[in-house]
Amino acid sequence: MICIGPEDRVFVLTGAGVSAESGIPTFRGVGGLWRNYRIQEVASPDAWARDPALVWEFYSMRRRVAAAARPNPAHAALADLEKKIGDRLFMCTQNVDNLHEQAGSRQVAHMHGELFVSRCDRCPRQPFADTSTYEPPAVVPQCECGGRIRPHICWFGEVPFDLDRIFAALVRCTVFTAIGTSGGVEPAASFVGQVCGRARTYYVGPESPANHLVFDECFQGEAGSVLPMLFTVE
Ligand code: OAD
Repeated sequence: MICIGPEDRVFVLTGAGVSAESGIPTFRGVGGLWRNYRIQEVASPDAWARDPALVWEFYSMRRRVAAAARPNPAHAALADLEKKIGDRLFMCTQNVDNLHEQAGSRQVAHMHGELFVSRCDRCPRQPFADTSTYEPPAVVPQCECGGRIRPHICWFGEVPFDLDRIFAALVRCTVFTAIGTSGGVEPAASFVGQVCGRARTYYVGPESPANHLVFDECFQGEAGSVLPMLFTVE
């Protein structure tokens, strides 16, 4: 149980494990996406330059899977926590699905981007909502400027989104909870190290993450079972 007092500020970091029980595959481990796809071929600026149709095929597949998914009790518990403590909760997700929002979370920093958003790879046009799929024989979509429309995703080798806000929230937090993330992908893997010693740090998931030694306590189990009972708010 994590007890949240009236002065606490909570930082929650979620990873693919939070959406696993909704039917969205994780990246690593049995059945993980990176067992069947190579990062360098589908999720990097090089891949986009070399074969944008293949990149869109990968993200179209992920759009289809995510469009069919519904939030699970872990997403609901986090939305409920926001209702109780408002902006004393900072939600940061590495997930690109919108299941936190579907569950009712209103403020979520998507540090790796959003699956249902696209943008031009050339001009400064704002990223825009896009639920379309672009699979062969569809052509790679084009912007009016002549650039290509790409997924609004942080690929390997790119800088994650919202880092200023995220680091400001890390500095303020007194409780840090990571859920369903393997703890090996930077910069998210280092967040707990930045707050340990001054914030209480917790991990939730069925396996120990790579950075488990830095956490004060690990709650072993699936997020959908652990989260609904995890937080008590004073
Ligand atoms: P991973 O696939 O690396 O790790 C998923 C974690 O979820 C593992 O530690 C599992 O033990 C755990 N897990 C599985 N089922 C769970 C459940 N029901 N409840 C709780 N935990 C569960 O996914 P991430 O750590 O999120 O980046 O990966 C981080 C980043 O690496 C992703 O955002 C993605 C990926 O490459 C990009 O694509 C930029």
